[in-house]
Amino acid sequence: MAVRGFNYIFYPGLLMILFSPGTSTFAIENVPDLLAQCYDCHGQHGHSDSPEMPIIAGYSKTYIMDTMTEYRHSERPCHETRYLTGPRKGQTDDMCRVARELSRQETEIIADTLSKETFIPAKQKFNAERAARGQKLHKRMCEKCHENGGSSPDDDNGILAGQWTQYVRHQMEEIETGRRPITKKMKKQFDKLDIEDIEDLVQYYASLQQRTE
Ligand code: HEC
Ligand code: HEC
Repeated sequence: MAVRGFNYIFYPGLLMILFSPGTSTFAIENVPDLLAQCYDCHGQHGHSDSPEMPIIAGYSKTYIMDTMTEYRHSERPCHETRYLTGPRKGQTDDMCRVARELSRQETEIIADTLSKETFIPAKQKFNAERAARGQKLHKRMCEKCHENGGSSPDDDNGILAGQWTQYVRHQMEEIETGRRPITKKMKKQFDKLDIEDIEDLVQYYASLQQRTE
């Protein structure tokens, strides 16, 4: 009797899992369109040429997965932004909404695809004096977690070297003010920085324009 009851209750649930739109063929078919949507803001293959849009080509799969989870739960601030190209050009959207529309499997395939692209540092102006000061700060306070001047995707903590200055500065402000939550150990380092130090670091990351393979 107990077994029959068990089957009766759970069988329809199982069917729902089997036919839910998270299954593999469905996810894979959707990916080219979903990636095109990313590229309409982040540039072709994630090589953004707009200073307000972060370059996302070559980030590690883990970092992208973690970030999309944060966005899905609105744990990171999302800003209304306009699509720069494509069918939705001019319309607004934000990362939290984008992340919520993706299944886990779709997110995983997208993250995998982007991680196989190469991060190409942005060519942008920087102040050499400030960059030199920023380098010292970075070595002392940040290098431990952001390896090789923040150029290595392999530490899974994002890429700072060669990322667009406007984006990096904005994130630093969000971290500093607590709007973007961050690991306690990094916050501890951040609390020691003043506005000038932050700008020195921003200029240092802008100065790193050598492509790292
Ligand atoms: C409407 C424009 C828009 C679309 C579409 C969009 N993004 Fe974003 N994305 C942004 C903006 C702007 C930011 C910077 C954070 C912010 O301001 O909210 C961002 C941030 C990110 C970040 C964080 C980068 C970092 O250094 O931490 C990742 C990862 C990302 N997007 C991935 C994606 C993926 C994957 C897609 C497609 C599924 C996508 N984005 C679609 C605008 C967009
Ligand atoms: C204990 C390790 C640790 C230290 C030390 C640390 N960070 Fe981080 N940092 C992280 C992690 C982890 C993330 C990714 C956070 C997330 O998932 O949102 C991150 C993310 C960032 C980001 C956002 C990157 C992006 O693409 O949006 C910036 C900017 C940043 N760190 C700057 C710094 C600076 C500047 C220092 C030194 C003053 C520093 N960090 C020290 C661990 C650290």
